[in-house]
Amino acid sequence: MSTTAQFQASVLTLFPEMFPGPLGASLAGKAATDGLWSLETVDIRDFASDKHRSVDDTPFGGGAGMVMRPDVIDAALHQAHSDGRPLIYLTPRGRLFDQATARTLAKADGVTLLCGRYEGVDQRVIEAWDMDEVSVGDFVLSGGEAAAITVLDAVVRLLPGVMGSADSLTEESFETGILEYPHYTRPEEWNGRTVPEVLRSGHHKNIETWRQDQAETITRARRPDLWGRHVAANTNKKG
Ligand code: ADE
Repeated sequence: MSTTAQFQASVLTLFPEMFPGPLGASLAGKAATDGLWSLETVDIRDFASDKHRSVDDTPFGGGAGMVMRPDVIDAALHQAHSDGRPLIYLTPRGRLFDQATARTLAKADGVTLLCGRYEGVDQRVIEAWDMDEVSVGDFVLSGGEAAAITVLDAVVRLLPGVMGSADSLTEESFETGILEYPHYTRPEEWNGRTVPEVLRSGHHKNIETWRQDQAETITRARRPDLWGRHVAANTNKKG
């Protein structure tokens, strides 16, 4: 086995102790142990140049909060970022992260993730490095770290050799364009609730039809946006 991991993630953060966090356990943890990916954390504070090790300052124009300094971020990137890899800045102002982006990133040989804190990062360094600004959802986290962990979790499980069964990848929510059908296991009856008859019938065609029907019903009710796109995509395919 090669000593260099297939996929190398570099995370720039003011809180390196937050990593690997959940990425050190379960599927991602095992994949790292197996050498399928590696994680490097870079402490942004190490790149501060003044005696107070300051990484942020007050915003020009006034207003609340602090802004991360461009010179400090730039120095950290010069050390941590490899040309040709995607460079992502996690921010609620970014485009929404989704399964398609996770798939694209999983094809790269790594990724650099910049975690913001405070009010954010000086706009000039975002532009100078042509960063891809990405958000994990329409809510505000206290910093980009939890978002970076989310992105890496979604990407690592797609790396070759990480997931055992190819089927469980192709059937899950967002890979098919709609949400996944509900699952049941033993016992057959639990607290007066039974497993749907069709799933116990052994009739594979009926099971498939039931699951598809459930997936469509749930998607229509919970995610009309996703359902609309799914219908449009299938109409285009047929038409
Ligand atoms: N930092 C703070 N909130 C965030 C979000 N929703 N997505 C990505 N980074 C963030």
